[in-house]
Amino acid sequence: MTGRSVHVRAPGKINIALHVGPAGEDGYHPLATVFQAVSLYEEVLATPASEIGLRVRGRHTEGVPTDESNLAWRAAALLAEATGIDAGVHLEVTKGVPTAGGMAGGSADAAATLLACDLLWGTGLSRDELGHLAAELGADVPFALTGSTAVGVGRGDLLSPALCRGTYWWVLALSEEGMSTPTVFGEWDGMQRVGGAREPTIAPELMQALLAADAAALAPHLHNDLQPAAVRLRPELGELLDVIGHTCALGAIVSGSGPTIAALADNPGDAADIAAAVTASGLAAEAVVVSGPVPGARLVEPIRSD
Ligand code: C5P
Repeated sequence: MTGRSVHVRAPGKINIALHVGPAGEDGYHPLATVFQAVSLYEEVLATPASEIGLRVRGRHTEGVPTDESNLAWRAAALLAEATGIDAGVHLEVTKGVPTAGGMAGGSADAAATLLACDLLWGTGLSRDELGHLAAELGADVPFALTGSTAVGVGRGDLLSPALCRGTYWWVLALSEEGMSTPTVFGEWDGMQRVGGAREPTIAPELMQALLAADAAALAPHLHNDLQPAAVRLRPELGELLDVIGHTCALGAIVSGSGPTIAALADNPGDAADIAAAVTASGLAAEAVVVSGPVPGARLVEPIRSD
């Protein structure tokens, strides 16, 4: 196997809807969410090595660990342990998804690494088996493997595909500084009145809008229970949502635990106009136009022998 390398790409996600219930004893909150994978990617190049090692490149590398606490490293170690294989790998992770942005970039690294190492080491796990390992690594990792549009329940890791037609155009307003997911969930906990939280569910109208490829019908159902907590921790997000509310955006929400904001556009031209307004406001580090849904983790190039 010497000299072979495997290049896998996995997408970031947004949450079109995110409903949260009160935390269970394990500290996790039961969720009902609709994920959509969008065209911002993490790339993982896996090359044989005697031990696990990792290098991180790209634009969003600040604060990303390069030791065994990195989720990609943990993914390789978990696959080796689960399959009983004694193999190493050098992982070169190129980040295209903002770090700690509510878009599951680290989870995409883990999903891409599971697939890349499975191919590199010839461990031959099924997608289902990879999915089980993914769920051990984090709540958002299984979705980064499957991609497209899916409903997630449990911790967000129990997935069923959503019937979704058409292409959706999103403007992502990226922040300079990320937010910690546990901190945002903790803020949400503090904002709940006792007995106030309900069983999280997804509106049937939202699923119908996805099936009908109807962005305008989808817009009123964009919802994120974590948004008030994220805005409380980062008030500029509220200002940015106001700015977007005065553009031609059909709707906008904080993605996941934030701070990325996803604004839904009717078409690519409108998306460019919304991105220009976000940039002009000076409230975001960057505005990026993406589309979704896109597939989950997959091989980018045929396996290379150097
Ligand atoms: O599973 P993952 O490591 O991505 O989750 C990060 C943190 O986010 C958890 O430790 C927990 O604090 C919070 N979380 C949660 N409920 C979920 C998913 C994540 O409270 N369903």
